[in-house]
Amino acid sequence: MYSRIISVGSYQPDNIVTNEELERKVDTSDEWIRSRTGIESRAIAKPDQATSDLAILAADAAIKKSGITKDEIDLIIVGTCTPDVATPNVGVIIQESLGLNSCPAFSVEAACSGFIYALNIANKFILSGESKCALVVGAETLSRITDWNDRNTCVLFADGAGAVILKPSEDTGIIYSEISADGTYADLLYVPYGTSRKPIHEKENDYFLQMNGNEVFKVAVKKLESIAINTLKKNNLTVDDIDWLIPHQANIRIIQAVAKRLGMPMEKVIVTLAEHGNTSAASIPLALDKAITDGRISKGDRILLQGFGAGFTWGTTLLTL
Ligand code: COA
Repeated sequence: MYSRIISVGSYQPDNIVTNEELERKVDTSDEWIRSRTGIESRAIAKPDQATSDLAILAADAAIKKSGITKDEIDLIIVGTCTPDVATPNVGVIIQESLGLNSCPAFSVEAACSGFIYALNIANKFILSGESKCALVVGAETLSRITDWNDRNTCVLFADGAGAVILKPSEDTGIIYSEISADGTYADLLYVPYGTSRKPIHEKENDYFLQMNGNEVFKVAVKKLESIAINTLKKNNLTVDDIDWLIPHQANIRIIQAVAKRLGMPMEKVIVTLAEHGNTSAASIPLALDKAITDGRISKGDRILLQGFGAGFTWGTTLLTL
């Protein structure tokens, strides 16, 4: 028995911000952003759109494509680090919108690895028999915790949501999943103020992401390489056995460096950074949906998903679509 992704949906806000628009806000250039990050534009939520609004649209799209009725959903897990409010969690808000009122619904805060964490947990629910139909979402409005006057971060981050429906299956689905974390890296990428230790009302404007970009870059490459190697080794596979690598979309140079170290040709790596930017927990399902929609990925393909994010957290999912 496996758990299997039966459909994928995503949503990107239609408010697109180009590099040229950022040039007018901070001391940067389209050339710098493209060459250092691979990003050309990003979608930013409108002021009245919260993370759950994006998540619900992605979930609706996944449900529509799945052929299930929404009443079949018996588990909702959302990866996000930009929840609508401290509580209730985004999963519950999605649940209420779908008109479901008795299944577990919760969010997982693992930053850019949030979707991989959520998928890992949902996989276990399905394999244990506790869930027969799970909705797994990665959704973010990173624009709300981005300092639009800080050129080190504002060129990178964006908003979006992606969702999958997961069901038990006798056909191969999720083959292997691994998640991990190392909190000693916490101060390389963090938001100083939030809810408990340093409530936001104590200090205005200090709830923006702080990042040591160079150090994040180095650790990201090392961890993404090592988790891919570990996943392949544990499953007696080589890179040649993988049809597609879908890494977290953080920076094209991180993705290229990891692919090079793995010996994976870039033709087999899904890159959607140019139009998505870094949407944190939404990045992998957004990329998966795009690559299915444009016909690159099809049923039966063997795919390696790779997440990496603040914490640091990281993880992989090896699956057959
Ligand atoms: N536009 C123009 N110049 C910029 C800039 C911008 N948006 N951001 C930084 N710079 C400047 C720096 O101030 C620095 O100037 P200096 O040499 O005068 O000090 C110069 O560009 C080089 O900066 P550096 O930090 O060395 O650039 P980089 O090649 O490492 O690229 C990042 C910076 C942030 C793009 C890169 O380090 C990165 O992507 N890191 C990973 C971040 C990430 O993925 N975070 C999320 C993880 S989930």
